[in-house]
Amino acid sequence: MRKSKLERFAELDTFPNVLQNFNVLKPVVVNNQKEEVDPKGRWHSLIFGNEKPIVLELACGKGEYTCNMALAEPGKNYVGVDIKGNRMHRGAKRALLENIQNAFFLRTDINIIETFIGPGEISEIWITFPDPHLKTGKHLKRLTSPRFLAKYRNILQPDGIIHLKTDDPTLYEYTLEVIASEGHRLLYADHDIYAKPLPEPLLEIKTYYEGMHLAEGRKIKYVKFQLSLLNE
Ligand SMILES: C[S@@+](CC[C@H](N)C(=O)[O-])C[C@H]1O[C@@H](n2cnc3c(N)ncnc32)[C@H](O)[C@@H]1O
Repeated sequence: MRKSKLERFAELDTFPNVLQNFNVLKPVVVNNQKEEVDPKGRWHSLIFGNEKPIVLELACGKGEYTCNMALAEPGKNYVGVDIKGNRMHRGAKRALLENIQNAFFLRTDINIIETFIGPGEISEIWITFPDPHLKTGKHLKRLTSPRFLAKYRNILQPDGIIHLKTDDPTLYEYTLEVIASEGHRLLYADHDIYAKPLPEPLLEIKTYYEGMHLAEGRKIKYVKFQLSLLNE
C-alpha cells in the first residue's frame, strides 16, 4: 500500500543517506540520529569517504537524476537537493534499496545552499525541470537567475559545469539571456533535444516531471554552461 505523506516524512528521518534542514531561519542540518552535522567543506571526508568529484542535482524532486547518474558514473558522487521531503523520500529509499553508495540527499532550501557546502566542493550542477516562476516580478526565484548563479559560484570549482534541463521556453530563453548578459561561457544549448542525437548520454534520464511534459507533447530543452571567471 502507498505510504502517506506523514509516513514518508517519518521514514525519511531514519535514512542514513539524507541530511535535512527543517527551517531556513535555523540553518543547520540533522542526520538520521537527529544529530546536528556540519558537512560544509567535509563532503568528501565525512559523507562519501572518498575524493571523487561531487555533482549536485538541484530541484531533484524524486531523485531520478541523482540515482541514475550515480549508477551510470560510479567515479563520481551525487547529491540530490530539494526542499520537499516526501518527494526526496522516493530517491533516497531507492538509493538505499539498490545500495547506490555514491548517491546522497540534502533536504534544504537552495537559497541557503552555501551554508552546507564549501567553496569549490562541487564539480557540476544539474538543474532538472525547476519551477519556471512565470509570474511578473518572480524571475529572481528562478534557479538560473543571477542571484542563484552567485550562490553556485561559491560552491563550484572555477571550471565547474552547470546543466539545465527544462520544458519551459521562457526559462530557457531567460537562462540564455543571463548567460550572455553576465558573460558566462555557453557550452551547448538546444530547444528540442530529442529531435536529434543527444549531445550527452545522461540526458536520456527522464524525471517525473519530464514524463508529464513529454506526455503533453512539450519539447525538452537543455543548456550547458560555465560561470565566467571573476576577472573575465
Ligand atoms: C517542477 S519540480 C521538478 C522536480 C524534478 N526535478 C522532476 O523533474 O521531476 C521542482 C522542484 O524544485 C523544488 N524546489 C523549488 N524551489 C526550491 C528551493 N528554493 N529549494 C529547494 N527545492 C526547491 C521543489 O520542491 C520541486 O521538487
